[in-house]
Amino acid sequence: MTKRFSTQAVHAGEERRKPYGALTTPIVQTSTYTFEDTAEIRRFMQRKEAEAPKEREEYGRYGNPTQQAVERKIAALEGGERCLLFATGMSAITTALLTLLSEGDHLIMVSGAYRRTQEFAREFLPRWGVEASLAPIDDVDALAAAVRPTTRVIFSETPTNPYLRVMDLARMAAVAQAHDIVTMIDSTFATPINLRPLEHGLDLVIHSATKYLGGHNDLLAGAVVGAADLLDEIENARGVLGGVGGPMDAYLLLRGLKTLDLRVRRQNENGVRVAQFLADHPAIERVYYPGLPSHPDHAVAQRQMTGFGGVVSFEVRGDLARTGRFIDRLQLPYVGPTLGGVEGIAQQQALFVSLDPEERRASGLADNLVRYALGIEDAEDIIADLEQALASL
Ligand SMILES: Cc1ncc(COP(=O)(O)O)c(C=O)c1O
Repeated sequence: MTKRFSTQAVHAGEERRKPYGALTTPIVQTSTYTFEDTAEIRRFMQRKEAEAPKEREEYGRYGNPTQQAVERKIAALEGGERCLLFATGMSAITTALLTLLSEGDHLIMVSGAYRRTQEFAREFLPRWGVEASLAPIDDVDALAAAVRPTTRVIFSETPTNPYLRVMDLARMAAVAQAHDIVTMIDSTFATPINLRPLEHGLDLVIHSATKYLGGHNDLLAGAVVGAADLLDEIENARGVLGGVGGPMDAYLLLRGLKTLDLRVRRQNENGVRVAQFLADHPAIERVYYPGLPSHPDHAVAQRQMTGFGGVVSFEVRGDLARTGRFIDRLQLPYVGPTLGGVEGIAQQQALFVSLDPEERRASGLADNLVRYALGIEDAEDIIADLEQALASL
């Protein structure tokens, strides 16, 4: 019987009977695994060469039981055959792309992806003879027109940061399937609670598990989910490139995942309440939230997602300094560059780009843009805090 999300978040991937009868999955804090004698090594190698499922571990860069419990849990939540865990989201993205792309191949990166992902495509891949081109997120015809005979991968993100643009996944999959292209979607902002990209025909789902999946701002991790044949290739590359995460972070992620459904539902509720409050406030110029009918991708989001997420971006009436004053007068959220945890975090994104006005303009981020990544605090308190900060400007 297929279990529902909250049940899977608690139970999926974990052995029912654990060592010592412990209720929680142990942290197997070791870098390597020893063998009793050479006969045990022979048995291990025979299974490996026959590509049979492994019965034991060999060395920490190739796997860890705590990490594998997390991988099984995330695979269950996304509805994928396999998941691989990485040290960071960037490590998951770069290892997957390096596995799939070779010299002479072409990658299409859809606009709005995380800036470091774009940097990897623009600055690093060409060094190895891989060309990358950018396609707009809201024009499937332009995406189809960007396909070349050498295109191997289409990479997109949904919703994007900070404008929360939503990719129409069924249409993206249709473009790719017509040309035998692998599709990858960074679904960090959506989480499997709000979106299950594999059900829309995508091949690989990526997460910065540092964000919602971990949910407590206390770990870094990344994940790739999809069909076993692709994941087997990526696993081999992970063993070579070495971006595997540690057992302690895997345990923290396992624990964080148990409350994913509860946390994301609350963050969805907070997102809708805060977006509506800001949309009606005279000191706010514009709100970007896919749950609002004014958002350009509202219809796609409504069709594709089961919740609109916990990030709300908005423009305060005024300039860089006035927006900064607003941020400084907020009492509830922390100020910083991440999202997805239980604590609300607000940031003026342009300031993280550059102190130089020209560079900020070139980045396309408005000086008065605020990204508020909502936590699980009570919506009434979040709104009261926004109200007092706006009133004081
Ligand atoms: C959408 C998205 N993808 C990937 C990353 C990179 O993840 P990590 O910081 O875990 O390497 C981030 C980080 O901000 C992100 O927001």
